Amino acid sequence: MASSASFFLLLLCMAAVASAQLSPTFYDTSCPNALSTIKRAVTAAVNKENRMGASLLRLHFHDCFVQGCDGSVLLADTATFTGEQNAVPNMKSLRGFDVIDNIKSQVEAICKQTVSCADILAVAARDSVVALGGSSWTVPLGRRDSTTASSSLANSDLPPPFFNLTDLISAFDKKGFTATDMVALSGAHTIGQGQCQNFRDHIYNDSNINPGYATSLKANCPRATGSGDTNLAPLDPTTSYTFDNAYYSNLLSQKGLFHSDQELFNGGSTDNTVRNFASSAAAFSSAFASAMVKMANLSPLTGSQGQIRLTCSKVN
Ligand code: HEM
Repeated sequence: MASSASFFLLLLCMAAVASAQLSPTFYDTSCPNALSTIKRAVTAAVNKENRMGASLLRLHFHDCFVQGCDGSVLLADTATFTGEQNAVPNMKSLRGFDVIDNIKSQVEAICKQTVSCADILAVAARDSVVALGGSSWTVPLGRRDSTTASSSLANSDLPPPFFNLTDLISAFDKKGFTATDMVALSGAHTIGQGQCQNFRDHIYNDSNINPGYATSLKANCPRATGSGDTNLAPLDPTTSYTFDNAYYSNLLSQKGLFHSDQELFNGGSTDNTVRNFASSAAAFSSAFASAMVKMANLSPLTGSQGQIRLTCSKVN
């Protein structure tokens, strides 16, 4: 009797694990053209505006780090609902929502209410990296969309640019990442742009910055708060629109845009990882790919949890 009860329990556990598992072939029969549709739309969006690749990659990160990869970041505020888009790390900073809405409507046109917004974000992040010259990886699929969002978790769990190395390591450890994963994921800052208000302190007040680099940034980012706050600078001043390992060589020459970037190479425990990724493009792309898969696996909703949204910006 005891053994049949424990066998039943084991079956239950196995079923729970199985339902929580994502698979790269999830849409192979239910929507065989989903991935090619997403890829075509991402490539078109990136060709139209190179920066969009960076914005889409960041959307996926900001989705996964809050409640898990559940599309919560895409839910727009309404009179009765507060989402994540106006949380401090996201407000007037996250972009690409219109591109995701467009992809979702193209996917809805071929497969009604089948492909989740959370999966679209995960695939679009990968396709963005590839569109900008990075290596590809396989994205596990089958996430479902949340009916909730959390601006307070967005505020507490997304790392700000003034974090030091200890803060960064613990923010990523909280989500199950090693310091090496954190350094690899930060390589995403090899593309995209940042606002003056996020790097002002670093260029005026830190000493671990290349003087010529600081001077060039100051030209477009005045010292006074409130002046030029939203002016942009590339996160990678060398190859801004190419997904390569230049981010790490920049750090070796003290050309990290944010305080948090330069913390990864500032005499601390992650220096050697930065050196390794700077000297080996292959070591970086393989560490980046596995950390991205790990990130994309953060607490997905699966099975009958959540829903498949019809429109990514609102619950059904
Ligand atoms: C390690 C901690 C991180 C911090 C402190 C951080 C912080 C920031 C900040 C402050 C910006 C600029 C926002 C603005 O000025 O509007 C930014 C941009 C960006 N971040 Fe991060 N980030 C981190 C990790 C990541 C990760 C893990 C990814 C993706 C895997 C990522 C991808 C990006 C991209 C692609 C951009 C440029 C977006 C665009 O041009 O639209 N970041 N990040």
